[in-house]
Amino acid sequence: MNKVALVTGGSRGIGLGIAKALAKEGFDLAINGVREEPQVAQTLTELRALGVRVVYLQGNIGTKDGRKQIIDGLREKYGHIDVLVNNAGVAPRTRCDVFEISEEDYDALMEINQKGTFFLTQEIAKWMADLKKADSDRQMSIVNITSVSAEIASVLRGSYCMSKAATSIMSTVFAIKMAEFGIPVYEIRPGVTETDMIEAVRETYHQGVKSGMTLEPRMGQPEDIGKVAAALIRGDLPYSTGQIISVDGGMNIKRM
Ligand SMILES: NC(=O)c1ccc[n+]([C@@H]2O[C@H](COP(=O)([O-])OP(=O)(O)OC[C@H]3O[C@@H](n4cnc5c(N)ncnc54)[C@H](OP(=O)(O)O)[C@@H]3O)[C@@H](O)[C@H]2O)c1
Repeated sequence: MNKVALVTGGSRGIGLGIAKALAKEGFDLAINGVREEPQVAQTLTELRALGVRVVYLQGNIGTKDGRKQIIDGLREKYGHIDVLVNNAGVAPRTRCDVFEISEEDYDALMEINQKGTFFLTQEIAKWMADLKKADSDRQMSIVNITSVSAEIASVLRGSYCMSKAATSIMSTVFAIKMAEFGIPVYEIRPGVTETDMIEAVRETYHQGVKSGMTLEPRMGQPEDIGKVAAALIRGDLPYSTGQIISVDGGMNIKRM
């Protein structure tokens, strides 16, 4: 029986980078996104070409129904889970000053980045705990993708930063809870990574990199996050549950 990994938002960007890395490790995959399956058919074909089973679980993690759809799909298709990667997330609908954020935009972002991530994790963590009780040798883990924005504030993306800071402490809370069951929980904090999410500000970030925003003079790639996630999930960083791994080219390093 192959191990199964659920990667939320695994249909493109960083999530897809993680999915590819886990497929290379031999994990069967459950890929989640909000688009209809035919729109991600090409991606699914590419992943299946890596020799593992891949199912697509369409569902909005920000809604109760969406989360139920994902978990029901997992139970039906695989019947078990070994790894949860909480990666799905959105940027603010509009980049605007913190004085201008509307309650509607705040709720829309928090529902996905924070509330949805929390309640999906709560359900899956309970399931994982049961699986572990039934088979104490199972190696399971949870990886939460937050952002440098959990730590580096931006007045034009205030709600996003708040959602990532909240998800960071969520990760710590689950690290404590899941330690009871021997299941490590990690947080990965990507820096500026070349995906669709940064489309509107790609050029600004390119200029930032040229001007020394990162110590390593390039943007991050989804493969970078994939490699780090795979190392954590393989157990290459033993005795380190609850830790935050920054994959940001040194962007968070204080300098003078
Ligand atoms: N790119 C960066 O610079 C950067 C930096 C730090 C942290 N991050 C974080 O990394 C994660 C991935 O970002 P990305 O850059 O790869 O973004 P992306 O290219 O925009 O991809 C977002 C993914 O999340 C899925 N998604 C969006 N809303 C969803 C929802 N409500 N329910 C389920 N799935 C949903 C999308 O599905 P569809 O394909 O169906 O739309 C897609 O697979 C996010 O949490 C983001 O905050 C990104």
